Amino acid sequence: MKARTVYICQNCGATSARWIGRCPVCGEWDTFVEERRETGEHRSEPQTKAASPTLLAEVGSQKTERLRSGIGELDRVTGGGFVPGTLTLLAGDPGVGKSTLLLQVCAQLKAIQALYISGEESLEQLRLRAERLGTLPPTLLVLAETELEAVEQAILEAQAQFVVIDSIQTLHSPALESPPGSVTQVREAALRLQRLAKQTGSIILAIGHVTKEGLVAGPKVLEHIVDTVLQFEGEVPYAYRVLRAVKNRFGPTHELGFFEMTASGLRELPNPSVLFLSNDTEMESGVAIATVLEGTRPLVVEVQALVTPSAYAVPQRSITGYDYRRLQMIMAVLERRLGIGLRQYDLFANIVGGLRLEDPALDAALALAIVSSYRDIPLPPQTAVFGELGLTGELRPVRLPEIRLREAHRIGIRRLLLPKANAEALSYASPELELIPIERLSLALTLLFP
Ligand code: TYD
Ligand code: MG
Repeated sequence: MKARTVYICQNCGATSARWIGRCPVCGEWDTFVEERRETGEHRSEPQTKAASPTLLAEVGSQKTERLRSGIGELDRVTGGGFVPGTLTLLAGDPGVGKSTLLLQVCAQLKAIQALYISGEESLEQLRLRAERLGTLPPTLLVLAETELEAVEQAILEAQAQFVVIDSIQTLHSPALESPPGSVTQVREAALRLQRLAKQTGSIILAIGHVTKEGLVAGPKVLEHIVDTVLQFEGEVPYAYRVLRAVKNRFGPTHELGFFEMTASGLRELPNPSVLFLSNDTEMESGVAIATVLEGTRPLVVEVQALVTPSAYAVPQRSITGYDYRRLQMIMAVLERRLGIGLRQYDLFANIVGGLRLEDPALDAALALAIVSSYRDIPLPPQTAVFGELGLTGELRPVRLPEIRLREAHRIGIRRLLLPKANAEALSYASPELELIPIERLSLALTLLFP
């Protein structure tokens, strides 16, 4: 096979015949690295027999028995456990707790053979960590190895049904000329592990580090290859960790799992909602409480905004934990529909607790937090709001309002503003929770900022 030189973006895997400073595909700077690649393109799997079409109706619908990890929050995210014969990528920032999580899973598995392959830590370090977690699983096999061929062989020899690769970036095949950690190596490792999982029916989990600089070959490159991508998130000053599936061939993608990092490993948080409220009893201006839904789980979260006169010609805007474009849309609605012009102001907003949310029901609370900060008037205490903001300033209904209501009620919210269309179709009522139907955001402002 002939080899040719290509330049590969280490962030997204885009290729180019010459070096370029900025990746035209993902927009990252300085990510192109020279690699040698065999021509003849991807060496595909050897075809043993020609496949012929079959009737869909005759395709066996064998129910694959999923493997429950024994960790409820993890099983919730995968959709009821891992599916045999698949490759899962666990991606996350260094230090977020990926190794800890998977070692805890290994420790729970009793009936099947697990194998933990570490290319990052020595076996002694691994043992120390296991002791710290309080569990020294008697049947767990460990191996310190980074060569892909040796790893494959070890999996086969150990007949491991559950395999952890920590991390995929450390694996390399000497048959390829690219350096360890390069896109070519990481992609090759993923393809081979995927094939091995299919062949053996094992569950393989590969840990992948994400770096902001995109210097280490990124999980983005792997997304298309693996069956499932789990992402482990958390802001370092907080102990909270959120697990989500960003790709899942065998289950849902919008379910979240919540954990807390403690001195003895990760602890599950089956009732996470109050964690994302700051403990102040007095409400401050710029703070609003929202009930959002991530997957099927309701969360009561605090949104904070700070609006201050800008010292610059171009004001600063930023939001952490929510879609920046939604912030821009909300600001435009506030200006055009409610006469609240923010052009001369800097605006910073964030979700308390380092949480990242996607539910558009957060719109209303974000808008209220902004107005509260702008007017420097706090919202009343024990008051929450949900609703998606429309372009005319109307509050649009959101899905599953009852679940949000129940959760708000459960944690002691006394007053809830909600879209009128949701309020009209409710099957839940409590004398302790006052419901205020809102058709337009302007009404909420009149009620809350008299
Ligand atoms: P780790 O699982 O090594 O992260 P990753 O594999 O994602 O890089 O965990 C990293 C951090 O977690 C580390 O800074 C120490 C901390 N930690 C605890 O607080 N408690 C524990 O029981 C363990 C094992 C780790
Ligand atoms: Mg690790």
